[in-house]
Amino acid sequence: MIQDILQHQEGGVLTLTFNRVDRKNSINVAMYEVLANAFEQGAQDSATRVVVLQGHETVFSAGNDIDDFLRNKPAGKDSPVFRFLRGIATFPKPVIAAVCGPAVGVGTTMLFHCDLVYAGDNAAFSMPFVNLGLCPEAASSLLVPRMFGMHRAAEALLLGEPFFAEAALEVGLANRVVAPAECNALARAQAIKLAAKPLASLMTTKQLMKGSQQEAVLRQMDEEGAHFGRMLGEPAAREAMTAFMEKRKPDFKNL
Ligand code: COA
Repeated sequence: MIQDILQHQEGGVLTLTFNRVDRKNSINVAMYEVLANAFEQGAQDSATRVVVLQGHETVFSAGNDIDDFLRNKPAGKDSPVFRFLRGIATFPKPVIAAVCGPAVGVGTTMLFHCDLVYAGDNAAFSMPFVNLGLCPEAASSLLVPRMFGMHRAAEALLLGEPFFAEAALEVGLANRVVAPAECNALARAQAIKLAAKPLASLMTTKQLMKGSQQEAVLRQMDEEGAHFGRMLGEPAAREAMTAFMEKRKPDFKNL
């Protein structure tokens, strides 16, 4: 059976690869479950010192699988998607992402919880939640304004406009922009460097860097999650997602 998320453990580096390219690496419930388990176990497992998240040279992730979303609305805080988001937001060891091509929705919001982000020069980030009749998730409504400033955050979150590798570099979302063919290798090389460092120092440093905002991040995620769950069942989201699956423009007149 082809696995939609590949897991490779070597030399202290756990590499998670989105491997559902025919669906643009969109993420369904089963994939969230794999991701949630990997982060929960990786936090405890002494064999994991660093995690790398990567996709394909042409696509990082098209975000939530919209078809799956219409069928399986995430049910509460213990659902795989929320377990994954909490897992990556509280992961105590370094997380590196290599992002090429589209990174839509959670494909972008998960990056705010990574420590290092390398982007292919074809990377296209977007958080089109409003265009889907939804609202931000993964504490992006807190973290995007902090990182981008309020007005650029509004372009990304209210207009839902995409932004590209150079803009991600400028605001500090990406550490470096490279040719797509080099991106996963660069992430791996940086992961190998981190895995050779003393783990307790890495973990304490990460805790000191992120600890003071952790509680606010988790609170924001819960608040977003409550709105998101409600909005998923409302007419605007249903219209937007049905329109995507039917390959037509959504009609928000009267909504
Ligand atoms: N959920 C379910 N299926 C998806 C998907 C998603 N998020 N993203 C892409 N797919 C499917 C498409 O329906 C298409 O299926 P088909 O081959 O049966 O027609 C296939 O993957 C290829 O996608 P396509 O749109 O043709 O590729 P593209 O290269 O033209 O565009 C994207 C790539 C990522 C820009 C575009 O697919 C997209 O915008 N996807 C939706 C992103 C989104 O809104 N995600 C939800 C965020 S909460």
